[in-house]
Amino acid sequence: MSGYLELWRLTKRYPVSSGDGRSGETQTVVKNFSLSIEKGEVVALIGHSGCGKSTVLSIVAGLTPSSGGGIILDDREVSGPGTDRGMVFQSPCLLPWLTALENVALAVDQVAREVPRPKRRSIAADHLEQVGLGDSLDRRPDELSAGMRQRVGIARALALSPKVLLLDEPFGMLDSLTRIELQDLLLRLWAREKKTTFLVTHDVDEAIFLSDRVVMMTDGPEAGVGKILAIPLPRPRDRRAVFEDPLFDALRRETLGFLEDEASRKAGSAEPEPPGSSCAEDSPRRATFGPSHPTALVGSGAGSGLGSWSKP
Ligand SMILES: Nc1ncnc2c1ncn2[C@@H]1O[C@H](COP(=O)(O)OP(=O)(O)OP(=O)(O)O)[C@@H](O)[C@H]1O
Ligand SMILES: [Mg+2]
Repeated sequence: MSGYLELWRLTKRYPVSSGDGRSGETQTVVKNFSLSIEKGEVVALIGHSGCGKSTVLSIVAGLTPSSGGGIILDDREVSGPGTDRGMVFQSPCLLPWLTALENVALAVDQVAREVPRPKRRSIAADHLEQVGLGDSLDRRPDELSAGMRQRVGIARALALSPKVLLLDEPFGMLDSLTRIELQDLLLRLWAREKKTTFLVTHDVDEAIFLSDRVVMMTDGPEAGVGKILAIPLPRPRDRRAVFEDPLFDALRRETLGFLEDEASRKAGSAEPEPPGSSCAEDSPRRATFGPSHPTALVGSGAGSGLGSWSKP
């Protein structure tokens, strides 16, 4: 084991609810999930809904105990939550009675208690500046748009100066234009700090555009790493150039191929649903397909800022 962040044979069993109140049975959702992430690397984790992506991320964040396996970050075993991991959720869960600055300052307070208060405030303000909210420091969450709130969430995570940034579908609730803005913001922030990043997403295009490697999960139960795809697109990445690059298309096809194979494997001999039957096109959440739908996870141009896209 030699990576900066090592996930070693992570396993998670959840109790199965029998409906009659009896307990004891468990289901193994994730089994022997191993992954090694280098310092400064951006790794995207993708897989069908319900396969266990959030479970894996949540174990890494220390929010969910694992049933087996272990995690090493920067040569130290990780157990339980810690400020060395900054987490960004789909919804940032800001404290509504505090301003943007005060929300971020809470994170700074956690890691820099010895620093005088005015300095901590200015550190928090710097982080908000970096995410483009320098003029909204004193606004409360209900005075911010969804995209601005998510920017505060990112600033709050980075204000911990974590060793690794963990993001669970951070742009999943945003409209397509805001999503593009925040993807670009994430790329700019990464270029500045080269922060090791582990990102869960449903969106194939987003995964490829942002990451150095895309890790594809098999479908559960007992989900694990199915395939790892290196993304040799040069950085800094320009959206238009990336999406016009034939390599991008090839990477997308390879990712979709794996995911569609997984869906078919899981569906077995069952006939796929007719197109559109389970897809809520206008849902703010991208992957609204059933977990075994063969077209689940396909980036719909609009959400990824790609223009129209048709299935290969
Ligand atoms: N606390 C829990 N208790 C029991 N089962 C759980 C619990 N949390 C998650 N699960 C189950 O574990 C499986 C994986 O859930 P998880 O949320 O990790 O999937 P996911 O890949 O993140 O899905 P999505 O893409 O929809 O967010 C699902 O079948 C889910 O029902
Ligand atoms: Mg999830």
